[in-house]
Formats: sequence, C-alpha cells, structure tokens
Amino acid sequence: MQDTAARRKGVGKTERRDTWWLQPLLTVVALGAFVAYATWVAFTGDNYWVEPYLSPFYSPLLGGNLGEPVLKLRWWPFTPAILVLWVPLGFRLTCYYGRRTYYRAFFWDPPACAVGEPRKGYHGESRFPFILQNLHRYFFYLSLVVVAFLWYDAVRGFVFDGRFGVGVGSLLLLAEALLLSMYSLSCHCLRHVAGGCVDCLSRRPARYRLWRWVSALNANHGLWFWISLSGAVVADLYIRLVATGAVIDLRIV
Ligand code: FES
Repeated sequence: MQDTAARRKGVGKTERRDTWWLQPLLTVVALGAFVAYATWVAFTGDNYWVEPYLSPFYSPLLGGNLGEPVLKLRWWPFTPAILVLWVPLGFRLTCYYGRRTYYRAFFWDPPACAVGEPRKGYHGESRFPFILQNLHRYFFYLSLVVVAFLWYDAVRGFVFDGRFGVGVGSLLLLAEALLLSMYSLSCHCLRHVAGGCVDCLSRRPARYRLWRWVSALNANHGLWFWISLSGAVVADLYIRLVATGAVIDLRIV
C-alpha cells in the first residue's frame, strides 16, 4: 500500500534515501526507445525480409511486397506489420508485469513504494480505458498464434535454397522464438488456466504439475518480458542490415 505520509508530502516526495528513481527512469528510456523503434519499423514497410529470414515484427506475413505471405491481402493500404503488431502490443500493454512497470514509470502511479504520487483516490482498473486491461487473457490466446508463426519462421530460417544450413540470422530467429515462448508461457493467465477453478489441486496431479511448472517460469516473468523485447529488436535490426547489404550474413550451408 502507498505510504500515506509520503503521499501527504506531495508528488515524488519521500523519506527514502536509496536510488528509487533509477528503475522508473531506466524504464522510460528503454520502453520509450522500443516504442520509437517499433513505430518506425511498423511504418517503413521495407527491408523486413531477406531470404530465408523474416523480421519478427512482420510475422505472420499478411500481404506486403517482399517475402512469401501466408495470406495475400492486396486491399490493405498500409504495411503488413500493422495487421499483426496489435496482438503483441496488446499482450504487452495488458501484461500484469508491464502494467506495473509503465504505471510507475510514465504515470508515477506511484513512482515507487513510499514515494508520493499525484493521484488522490484509487478506483482500480474498473473504468474506461483501464477496464480494457481485462482483455489480457484474450491477448494471451492470440499471442500463442503469433508464437507458433515465430517458430515456423525460425525453422524456415535454417533452410537455404532447399538445403539445411545455419546462419547468424537463423540463430537470432530461433532465440527470439524461444524467448517469446518463455515470456508467453510464464504469463499469469496460464497459471490460472493450469491451476484455476479447482478446489483441491492435490486431487488433480497433472494440473498441479503444470501449475508448478508455469509458476516456476512465472517467477522470472519480468526478465522474459525484457529479453524477449530486446530479442525482437536485435533480430529485426540484423535482418534489416543484411537486407540493405550493410552486413553479410555469416552462414554454414
Ligand atoms: S501477465 Fe505478463 S504476459 Fe500475461
């Protein structure tokens, strides 16, 4: 609970002597940089594909002027990324860890424990637009579809002109598929799917085992959040550099 004495003193006021401000500051820098990069990538519409690699920002590929789309949508006037990015964006925006992180950093709600915040009352997430955070479980199911396509892209990244090979891009796409899987499988919603609505878990050993396994992953959910986010940027940037000829993809075929 927010320290009432700190709240009375005013916004940002606290008796804490540690560097409580560092975490919100780093979050603003990191998330701000990611949002700027992702927005640019979503609207550029080029260099997202170089055989056999597809940027994770454009997966699954729906239409577009590069690569082999899983669905050809000729009527769409914008880039194919905009057709799919709303899923991972919604998933992360409604993520429990994500909410805590950006509420603190951007809304100062509160900026940290026992630090004064601007808001006077608390209504939970019961009003628009925050009530939309309840859509998280649906974004979770949709994100599993995106993860499946990332695995498809990762496997495809090991096939060079019909032959098996390994390139730096193959490894980056494989790493991103793995990291995003860990992020999704450590979601609080999956804990509920595994162990929720059961009166006595000890009588459901399979669900209990699954719940314990997901809970173990969930302990590091914040870590998976950040490294899967970084992995997407690294993979996309690498594919762009190879596509523009700035970097030559090292590969063994
Ligand atoms: S709680 Fe973070 S992805 Fe579900």
